[in-house]
Amino acid sequence: MEATGWPGVARDGRDLYTPNRGPPGDRVYGETLRTVDRVEYRHWDPFRSKLAALLVKGAATDVWRGARKSLYLGGAHGTTVSHLSDVLDPTPVYVVEKSATSFAPLLALARRRRNLLPILADAQLPERYRADVGEVDFLYQDVAQRNQAAIFVENARATLAAGGRGILMLKVRSVTQRRPAASVVRETRAELGRAGIEVRQEVGLAPFARDHVALVTSGP
Ligand SMILES: C[S@@+](CC[C@H](N)C(=O)[O-])C[C@H]1O[C@@H](n2cnc3c(N)ncnc32)[C@H](O)[C@@H]1O
Repeated sequence: MEATGWPGVARDGRDLYTPNRGPPGDRVYGETLRTVDRVEYRHWDPFRSKLAALLVKGAATDVWRGARKSLYLGGAHGTTVSHLSDVLDPTPVYVVEKSATSFAPLLALARRRRNLLPILADAQLPERYRADVGEVDFLYQDVAQRNQAAIFVENARATLAAGGRGILMLKVRSVTQRRPAASVVRETRAELGRAGIEVRQEVGLAPFARDHVALVTSGP
């Protein structure tokens, strides 16, 4: 097992791992566990987690480096959240999820980890949780909604520290089925740009996740 440039992430050959910060032996989504030098690691599958796919495809290594607090929009059952919890521990990760069905397993996951703070809310309304969350250094969004760019901009305005970093997992088909992917990505970048958010990297996630482009951002 070797360290990588991404804080908290280890690798063995091409496979990525995070140190398990949940109870020993705890599996979140059936992932493989391995113990090396008395540290238990969880395999991070790029076919199950778009963030792992982004790392495999070459994300900048500083995206969450030094983050004191993070906000995650669209936590679902916590697959990716659990790995971010591993790498960001002990710093807090606030997780917004609007579906009550997904929120139940997310809450159960948070009970087994010290740095996860789940919030049952609509990410389109950051004013409902901004006072609880405060200022964050890292914003991650994976909500697969038509207005993904607007949601990212509003949350960045409400919570992101000056110069904070982010990742927008853009699901092109959720924006429109009628226009080519390149035009949707171009419009999304323009909308972020108008809000003063710079796109540092644009990474297609094939073959791990179809129809997704990750935008790695900085600012406003
Ligand atoms: C593709 S799934 C997220 C997968 C998850 N990020 C992972 O990698 O494990 C999208 C999630 O976003 C949630 N979602 C969609 N719109 C939302 C909104 N406006 N506010 C909060 N959550 C939302 C959905 O309920 C769903 O759980």
